[in-house]
Amino acid sequence: MARLTKYLKLLFHVTILVLINYFIKNQKQIRIEKKIERYIPDIKHILMWTKLPSVEEEGQKYFISHNCHHINCYFTSNRSFFVDLRYFDAIVFNVQDISSQSSDLPEVRSIVQKYIFAANDSSDNYPICSPVYDNYFNWTWTYKPDSSIPYKFISVYNQHQEELGNNILWDKFETIPVTKQFKSSLSSKSAAAAIYLDKCITSSKREVFLNKLKICLATYNLTVDVFGPCGTMKCGRTSLKSCYYRIRTTYYFYLALEDSIADDYITQSVLFGYNNLAVPVVLGGVKYNKYLPPYSYVDAKLLGEKLTAKLIYEAIQNKTKYYEFFNWRNHYTIKESTVLDACSVCQFLNNEGWLKTGTVYTTFREWWNPNYIERCNRFGLTAKLQF
Ligand SMILES: *[C@@H]1O[C@H](CO)[C@@H](O)[C@H](O)[C@H]1NC(C)=O
Ligand SMILES: *[C@@H]1O[C@H](CO)[C@@H](O)[C@H](O)[C@H]1NC(C)=O
Ligand SMILES: *[C@@H]1O[C@H](CO)[C@@H](O)[C@H](O)[C@H]1NC(C)=O
Ligand SMILES: *[C@@H]1O[C@H](CO)[C@@H](O)[C@H](O)[C@H]1NC(C)=O
Ligand SMILES: *[C@@H]1O[C@H](CO)[C@@H](O)[C@H](O)[C@H]1NC(C)=O
Repeated sequence: MARLTKYLKLLFHVTILVLINYFIKNQKQIRIEKKIERYIPDIKHILMWTKLPSVEEEGQKYFISHNCHHINCYFTSNRSFFVDLRYFDAIVFNVQDISSQSSDLPEVRSIVQKYIFAANDSSDNYPICSPVYDNYFNWTWTYKPDSSIPYKFISVYNQHQEELGNNILWDKFETIPVTKQFKSSLSSKSAAAAIYLDKCITSSKREVFLNKLKICLATYNLTVDVFGPCGTMKCGRTSLKSCYYRIRTTYYFYLALEDSIADDYITQSVLFGYNNLAVPVVLGGVKYNKYLPPYSYVDAKLLGEKLTAKLIYEAIQNKTKYYEFFNWRNHYTIKESTVLDACSVCQFLNNEGWLKTGTVYTTFREWWNPNYIERCNRFGLTAKLQF
């Protein structure tokens, strides 16, 4: 009997313990929107909720090694760095994670800290579907020009080495014929076009366009050589870099087809053409005339596969026409920019005005991708499983 009482007593205690645990757990999910004093006021602590693709270094290293204007920022991906998440000045969320889940998120939040949405990829590849993220982020750090902290994949400079902004108004430049020397650097070219592909199925359906273009080019006896994992051609190693020399010496055109069609989304792929003296044939969601000098590229989305093939053929036949694609070089230079440049985040965190102004993206999903409803539905089963 005494044994049974003892047993019942134990059971009772265990039940109480389980119940207490349950209540504590539930309690935790309630957001405490409370201000918390930071104890190291001159260092800005930034938590990467999950690792960012472009920022490998923890601590202040990034800011020092990149010669940032402000270096009093500290990156970590250690969520237990402080006893409380609210000590962080900012928490950075990575698009790849946010797009695929909405359960692994901080349980407490301070009203003075900044939640930053960071994206190194397009809104079409990674739409945000969960309503949790509306009214969630204070700042955005993406390629979209109207982000709080915008960055670029490529930048255009004028002759005075001044970086040009968005919606560039191009100078009317007269056509200075390219020099003999320059022509000779193009003289070894013998094949129409190349492309390097490492993503074989894309939401821009560039693989479909590519096949159509190949058919049209075939009527002119021209071909496209596909390098990389999705093609049959190899240039030494498997990386794109090992193809640069081949592109420069052999191909008239480089196909810079984006893997997704999204507003303002133009990646470094055009540079594989520009930097290797192969005229880029572009396909993407941007208005290319706002981003690239006139007559420096062929807009395949605008022209369609038939006219694109015709233009490629004509330019190969008529060298005067081909050389015209290089005239812009007397007036502009195009360079790769730092994707997700963390210097600018540190700069923003050092600006009292920006810091104090409370901002929040109320209709965030729509801001990121105006087409998100349709795009999230296209995710179909995946969306249902994950949200
Ligand atoms: C963004 O980062 C991921 C992960 O590192 C990478 O696989 C992807 O190619 C990047 N996207 C772009 C457009 O650079
Ligand atoms: C995270 O930070 C805490 C507190 O500074 C430390 O005790 C812990 O070892 C760190 N974890 C890792 C994985 O660095
Ligand atoms: C393509 O090649 C075929 C056979 O070599 C030839 O008959 C045809 O005229 C060529 N077409 C063009 C447009 O050069
Ligand atoms: C070659 O191209 C130039 C420049 O576009 C043009 O003026 C010329 O008429 C073309 N020549 C032929 C033979 O089509
Ligand atoms: C950040 O966003 C949250 C959530 O909407 C809001 O409550 C808070 O006031 C904002 N804080 C700052 C500093 O912008």
